[in-house]
Amino acid sequence: MNLENFYLIELPEIEDGIDGTISVAEGSHHIPFEIKRVYYIYGLENANAIRGKHAHKHLEQVIFCIHGSFLLGVDDGIHRKEMLMNRRNQGVYLGTGLWHTMTQFSKECVLLVLASDYYDESDYIRDYSEFKRYILNKTA
Ligand code: TYD
Repeated sequence: MNLENFYLIELPEIEDGIDGTISVAEGSHHIPFEIKRVYYIYGLENANAIRGKHAHKHLEQVIFCIHGSFLLGVDDGIHRKEMLMNRRNQGVYLGTGLWHTMTQFSKECVLLVLASDYYDESDYIRDYSEFKRYILNKTA
């Protein structure tokens, strides 16, 4: 897997003792792009819930699990990796051309996603065989 396209990002944790903890993500600093969009995913009570199942042509994202845990699967067309996401200050940078899935959500799991651009359906590849063709063409 191309490590420029997929790596862990650790956010600082500012601990205030009994008053809790702050984690902070600044665009172009902790996050390797200017953040244009933030979305969060919740209501994942269904044990069979699956999210993702797509790749992006241009969009870059950083995914966090800010409550609970889930399994992140990432596939670059050749190699596949799975990561248990269960640390509130640890995100995963997902560059372009990575097929990703999110499964095995714990009770009350909440995901936070920081994205480099606005929502654009034409940036998605939602069919796995189309994704494989896209990767082959890119590397040819
Ligand atoms: P999708 O990106 O496939 O969600 P996930 O990767 O979490 O499984 O989006 C699901 C639906 O929500 C799809 O119809 C598009 C819509 N959507 C928006 O309108 N704006 C957004 O910013 C996002 C992330 C999704």
